[in-house]
Amino acid sequence: MRLVLLGAPASGKGTQANVLCTTFGVPKISTGDMLRAARAAGTELGKEAEKYMSTGGLVPDEVVIGLVAERIAEPDAQSGFILDGFPRTEAQAQALDELLASRGAPLDAAVQIDVPRELLVERATGRRTDVRTGQIYHLKYNPPPADAQLEHRADDREEVVAKRLDAYDAQTAALLPYYDSRGLLKTVVGTGKPEEVTNSIKAVLA
Ligand code: AP5
Ligand code: MG
Repeated sequence: MRLVLLGAPASGKGTQANVLCTTFGVPKISTGDMLRAARAAGTELGKEAEKYMSTGGLVPDEVVIGLVAERIAEPDAQSGFILDGFPRTEAQAQALDELLASRGAPLDAAVQIDVPRELLVERATGRRTDVRTGQIYHLKYNPPPADAQLEHRADDREEVVAKRLDAYDAQTAALLPYYDSRGLLKTVVGTGKPEEVTNSIKAVLA
């Protein structure tokens, strides 16, 4: 299973990827998680990425394309992967197509999780992530257990979320027609409970 999850910030890509990677037995590859790990480790890459992430803009294409190219070459990604948050521009989508074509292993589908913009700000500002497990919670919709070690993402402040949503509209939404024209786009309604969204994704992939 080689899958791309598409969707606006806080639409539920990470939540669904965490479940689907177990279902399909393939790794989740999240460029956002990889960039946050690099930032936490204080690497040059992390410092460079932070300039863009802190203001809600996109990290340059060549940086994230390089990260993904290395990651999908690893042994655990040979039987497939779920990409969460990549590609985000047409240049990234083309680079991914070329990488996969050179391996003779094209994408199976690009699944869009469709959530109206008015719900996304609340989802983002209420998000908390357990730093030990990577589990994604929401203060209202999926409350964390008392012993969770919670992190509030710096880019989940309302003013940065608005910038991220603008970046999605300006640069990432163009990937919907990109994948549709290649017969790969599947859209699911992302407003139900997380389990309902998971079932919808499994249904469109069946
Ligand atoms: P990234 O980490 O990818 O952020 P994002 O795309 O903005 O997406 P999020 O992680 O915010 O949301 P999500 O869709 O994963 O939702 P989640 O499941 O957490 O990127 C961060 C930054 O890194 C970017 O701004 C950019 O700077 C850089 N970057 C990353 N990739 C890049 C790339 N390819 N190119 C360039 N730059 C890149 O859910 C959100 C909340 O909603 C949670 O609280 C969750 O519990 C809740 N929730 C989930 N599902 C439901 C549901 N069904 N009902 C109710 N609540 C729900
Ligand atoms: Mg995410």
